[in-house]
Amino acid sequence: MPKILVTGALGYIGVRLVSHLLQAPDGYEVIGIDNDLYHDATHGPLTAVPDQRLTLYRRDIRDLSLSDLDGVEIVMHLAALSNDPLGNLDERLTDEINCLASVRLAELAAKAGVERFLFSSSCSTYGAAGDALLAEDATLNPVTAYGHSKVEAEAGILALASDTFSPTALRNATAFGYSSRWRQDIVLNDFAASAWLNKQVKILSDGTPWRPLVHIGDICRAFTTIATADRSQIHAESFNVGSNSANYRVSELAEIVAGEIPDCSIDYAPGGGPDKRCYRVDCSKIVEHVPAFACEFGVQDGVSEMLEAFAKYGLASEDIAAGKYARLPAIARRQAAGEVDDLLRRTCLSGTDGRLQSNSSQFEEPAE
Ligand SMILES: NC(=O)c1ccc[n+]([C@@H]2O[C@H](COP(=O)([O-])OP(=O)(O)OC[C@H]3O[C@@H](n4cnc5c(N)ncnc54)[C@H](O)[C@@H]3O)[C@@H](O)[C@H]2O)c1
Repeated sequence: MPKILVTGALGYIGVRLVSHLLQAPDGYEVIGIDNDLYHDATHGPLTAVPDQRLTLYRRDIRDLSLSDLDGVEIVMHLAALSNDPLGNLDERLTDEINCLASVRLAELAAKAGVERFLFSSSCSTYGAAGDALLAEDATLNPVTAYGHSKVEAEAGILALASDTFSPTALRNATAFGYSSRWRQDIVLNDFAASAWLNKQVKILSDGTPWRPLVHIGDICRAFTTIATADRSQIHAESFNVGSNSANYRVSELAEIVAGEIPDCSIDYAPGGGPDKRCYRVDCSKIVEHVPAFACEFGVQDGVSEMLEAFAKYGLASEDIAAGKYARLPAIARRQAAGEVDDLLRRTCLSGTDGRLQSNSSQFEEPAE
């Protein structure tokens, strides 16, 4: 059974990716690594299902060593300070975790004999780009510390490609949809929560910026199809992950979400400008190189899935106001509680090797 190491296994995409890997017909053994920064941000039950093929460790990727990669064939590297506001929290730390630790992990993986290293990059590497449809060879123009960290990590990781080591960068579009580590701080999810709670979608920009979107389940399938694709097609390549039909203006996304909730209004925050982050992406390359991949879910699917989860598990306006599901306030909570230090290192770990008690459990996530 192939052994896969997933970093960021307890994040928004990670919990669903782990579940997806364990549901795969071939079956994988999965080692999950995460320092669990968002343990108080679970939405609905993070229901543990016994599964002997999964071991989860509460570890920091900066502390991993060669022995952690023993017998691993594929690394799926998602752990990161995962968005623009987090990048602004401390640019040096963003570089340390998202870039330096990522390149170091890829170096360790190459040394340990890992065959494939799938790096979770981002379309925010394109930054301020305007209306043109951008393919992977377009100039990268990141406008945030987060975007810069992904550009530099990609370059450092892909440069390690060799006859025995195949790194691949997945430039994910902005994700949407449900997971039990649901995030509010991404555009469609934010609109869905606000429409559900307040019958109002609030746009902070002037609504004109372009955003490519991709359903979280399609990101998971991009990882698994790239992991099993013909090596020559993915070796040292970057892929935009999304679909050409899913480039939307922010105002269009607001209209789609508002259309799902009776009497929902769309309001613009006073003084909202055009937003420097504006890009449309061409996602033809991934389908050409990895024919098993195609996006299956649209924006409406993601909105319906989130509204169903809000109806089933509830969504409290106090939690949204307190930033329970947003990454930046969660980190501030960890620091205020003394759980992590200024460098976001955990001040105590569970068990000597960081193994979590739920070490042989997976989480019940929507079936893909
Ligand atoms: N969600 C999106 O829209 C999106 C879009 C493009 C790319 N990405 C990338 O995909 C990846 C996953 O995104 P997500 O939305 O699941 O983010 P997330 O913030 O929900 O998850 C990231 C996980 O990484 C963990 N982590 C952070 N620093 C760590 C460290 N030093 N050591 C160990 N674990 C650490 C956190 O605890 C968290 O569980 C990230 O690399 C992100 O940049 C996400």
